Amino acid sequence: MNVIRARDYEDMSEKASQLVVDKINESNVNVLGLATGGTPVGLYKRLIKKINKGKASFSNIHTVNLDEYIGLSADDPNSYHRYMDDVLFKHINIPKSQTHLPNGDAEDVQLECLRYEALIHELGGVDLQLLGIGNNGHIGFNEPGSSFSGRTQVVELAPSTIEANARYFSDEEMVPRQAITMGIQTIIESKGILLLASGLDKAEAIQELIEGEVSESCPATVLQKHSDLTIIADEQALSLV
Ligand code: GLP
Repeated sequence: MNVIRARDYEDMSEKASQLVVDKINESNVNVLGLATGGTPVGLYKRLIKKINKGKASFSNIHTVNLDEYIGLSADDPNSYHRYMDDVLFKHINIPKSQTHLPNGDAEDVQLECLRYEALIHELGGVDLQLLGIGNNGHIGFNEPGSSFSGRTQVVELAPSTIEANARYFSDEEMVPRQAITMGIQTIIESKGILLLASGLDKAEAIQELIEGEVSESCPATVLQKHSDLTIIADEQALSLV
């Protein structure tokens, strides 16, 4: 694994956006895996500027997101569909038909999981997957205890994740209890992985990811086995390493 130390959130975001641009230009990224949450917002802001200055093009790229809440429609302000439109897609030149997220509003969510997993395979797999990390070591919405062999599936959110994500909702009660997420096996099959972390809240999870025993009790530890993993984290997130 390659660990890149950043000074702070801004520095992490700049380094990450440059790495994404370089990878797109150098190594033919056709399918880019995207993450949501607070962490990648700065990366997306910088990416928009770089794309609009002609440093990279997304016009032929397909994007696949990690996860989506169950029960929220695509235009719900708290859905990850809406998040992606607001923080990235509507600011750059990428056809809507090339941006993919699980449909959390599907009538049959189990069928939707199968569709999404099949879509990733039809696209030829993910070339570069962006990841954040939960305070409890979750990746996507794969909470502690998730099987390393899991595919795209319906999951229950951990109480600590509901609490952490409540800041985006008017009330903690409004946070959906379930989500569709790429499974850990789906994630680990990505050809390259770029994980970002910022802040003291993430320090224990990052320590576990870098130095801990590989265990399903901390999903992110599975990434130790990946042959092309880059972590860009700031001083605070790396303070226990
Ligand atoms: C959310 C998302 C994850 C994200 C994580 C951290 O629940 N499902 O993909 O990486 O939690 O979020 P944040 O970046 O806001 O700390």
